[in-house]
Amino acid sequence: ADDQPYEPTIPDLRDPVRQALRSVLEVARPHADGELASYIPELTHADPEALGAALVSIRGTVHEVGDSESTFTIQSVSKPFVFALALEQSGLTEVIRHVGVEPSGEPFNAISLEAASGRPLNPMINAGAIVMSSLIAGDTAEEKFAEIHAGLNAFAARELDLDESVFESEHATGDRNRALAYLTQAAGTLGSTAEVATGAYFRQCSVAVNARDLAIMAATLANGGTNPVSGERVIREDVARWTTAVMTSCGMYDASGDWLVHVGLPAKSGVGGGIVAIQPEQFGIGTFSPRLDERGNSVRGIVVLRTLSERYGLHML
Ligand code: DON
Repeated sequence: ADDQPYEPTIPDLRDPVRQALRSVLEVARPHADGELASYIPELTHADPEALGAALVSIRGTVHEVGDSESTFTIQSVSKPFVFALALEQSGLTEVIRHVGVEPSGEPFNAISLEAASGRPLNPMINAGAIVMSSLIAGDTAEEKFAEIHAGLNAFAARELDLDESVFESEHATGDRNRALAYLTQAAGTLGSTAEVATGAYFRQCSVAVNARDLAIMAATLANGGTNPVSGERVIREDVARWTTAVMTSCGMYDASGDWLVHVGLPAKSGVGGGIVAIQPEQFGIGTFSPRLDERGNSVRGIVVLRTLSERYGLHML
């Protein structure tokens, strides 16, 4: 989407937002530290240099720069959207019987079960996300995934593909996630069998997106649940608010507090290299760069969002 060199001295009067994004992308580009995720072997095939971003306003205007059309798997960025679909289908009271809404302060793949209730602490970590996938309508992994896929498509305003090789790779190496699912099954908080829940969850994580898709998905949350590009109401307004709230407290795992201080935007990261961020009632942002820090968050994506927030006063507080 962006084949022009960065020219800071020539203002792009047609699209100043794109110019701002382009400038911020060049601030992030030298941050070449971090590693590709390797615990899912197929993710090591990503281009480590890829870097893209997009911003979509609640009026549906799309601004994009760099590798905004490069595809990668959504991974944990799917979690808030599937949490939203579970809330839409079952309501808040039922959903929070199965999962908490408290930050865990722990890594994304931590064993997380509240002693009294058997619930994972929140739906942004793997344990809680697998429970959310288990609550989605359908008896089999395929049926649940069909619901999830339709929901993600509605958030993105297009038909998204499943990356079969990433799915197979996750399925082949996902024993820790299976263990988390069995723990919640034993605790009575899983809504299906562990095998059905992880089957749906592994597919959900393997949906292929680009930075522009993520920005449209985020803009749908920013817009109170109506997709600003397609005009479709995807989720109710209260569901969008609850989802954004949990992204604010838990979206960046054990970096969520630091993120809230320094960036101040509800966000969610994924080990495919994507991050979504939301400025409620304003816009959604999607970033892509696959090298990750030790918490599993995109190194350059963090720089892009932090720089945008600092330069343009986007901190919501
Ligand atoms: O379950 C997993 O481990 C992956 N499918 C998703 C984890 C993830 O994206 C964590 N995020 N930063």
